[in-house]
Amino acid sequence: MDFKRNILITGGAGFIGSHVVRLFVTKHPDYRIVNLDKLTYAGNLENLRDIENMPNYVFVKADITDIETMRKVMADYNIDGVIHLAAESHVDRSILNPFEFANTNVMGTLSLLQAAREYWEKSAQGYEGKLFYHISTDEVYGALKPGKELFTETTPYSPHSPYSASKASSDHFVRAYHDTYGMPTIVTNCSNNYGPYQFPEKLIPLFINNIRHHKPLPVYGKGENVRDWLFVEDHARAIELIFHKGKVADTYNIGGFNEWRNIDLIKVLIATVDRLLGNPDGHSLELITFVTDRQGHDLRYAIDSTKLKNELGWEPSLQFEEGIEKTVKWYLDNQTWLDNITSGDYQKYYEDMYSNR
Ligand code: NAD
Ligand code: DAU
Repeated sequence: MDFKRNILITGGAGFIGSHVVRLFVTKHPDYRIVNLDKLTYAGNLENLRDIENMPNYVFVKADITDIETMRKVMADYNIDGVIHLAAESHVDRSILNPFEFANTNVMGTLSLLQAAREYWEKSAQGYEGKLFYHISTDEVYGALKPGKELFTETTPYSPHSPYSASKASSDHFVRAYHDTYGMPTIVTNCSNNYGPYQFPEKLIPLFINNIRHHKPLPVYGKGENVRDWLFVEDHARAIELIFHKGKVADTYNIGGFNEWRNIDLIKVLIATVDRLLGNPDGHSLELITFVTDRQGHDLRYAIDSTKLKNELGWEPSLQFEEGIEKTVKWYLDNQTWLDNITSGDYQKYYEDMYSNR
């Protein structure tokens, strides 16, 4: 079958990537979607069970730092668009192992850029109709003071954690491939995502999982740090829109205009989980446990996504209360997914599957 477009999505077995893959596969049956993922601890093909047999979906298990394989994938699937999400994504892990973050996020992005460049430069149409779209984070902008100031697309980069330093570096490489070689690129910087299929090391799914087991909820510092939360399907929708309508060489911020102090969000989460589990009001508040703060913990992130609204008409579709309700319900309805992912069973299954190939 001839496809209208051949799009490589990296990191598609992860949290955000799985939502992006699902949206593209179902909304664009005339596109071939190649999901390339190394299946690290964070990659889980269970996230894509519902679409894995679709005729326009292909899965490739590969490491983005392996440039030879990236060259082969570009050519084998005649890729004309890359949506790059594969990364090490958890700040706490980056504090423990910064080298892994530099390797995956910087060298991996560079390998992918170079493989795309080589393939597209020697194709008949060159860079025409091609796009390398890099998914990045608001953490590259550093930390805001309490107040009304927001990160805009022109806020200078000031990353603090090894994770955000690696993402900032990869953003610069993407822009350098545009400025130096003329590659059509776009970078977007998004705020904190939440929703189904998020690995339960991140605040929201970790705390939902702990509440259901009546385990302590480790709140870093005094719980006063502020994050700007966006429902993951709204992020996926923004990515699909920007991939088609975004201006080449441009940057868009994506956020929910939805700031919460951690401790306030945690109380909403506790109330929602307790209600849905049928626990008495306030039952799990005793689980709140203040622990040593994260090293270099950024105080506040908040995104101004006015440009995306004005230029492309995107806005978040869900109110936070609605999004949290939907999210908590999903985790409570999918406790086997949570049990498999926390026990590591999901990985054993796929290790066996791939070692037999
Ligand atoms: P995630 O950790 O859930 O998923 C990352 C995926 O990348 C996993 O499937 C993993 O197996 C894969 N991967 C890791 N190393 C790889 C490698 N070397 N080769 C191939 N695949 C590899 O991450 P996420 O939260 O879905 O984030 C996806 C992207 O979005 C990341 O680039 C992240 O920086 C960015 N982002 C995340 C958020 C958020 O709130 N989660 C917000 C803004 C931006
Ligand atoms: O802002 C976008 C970023 O959001 C993404 O680029 C990252 O990939 C993503 O992991 C996320 O980073 P955060 O560090 O903000 O997310 P996390 O869920 O780890 O933490 C959210 C807040 O909650 C943060 O202030 C730290 C705090 N926290 C987190 C954990 C895991 C706790 O207090 N206790 C915890 O156990």
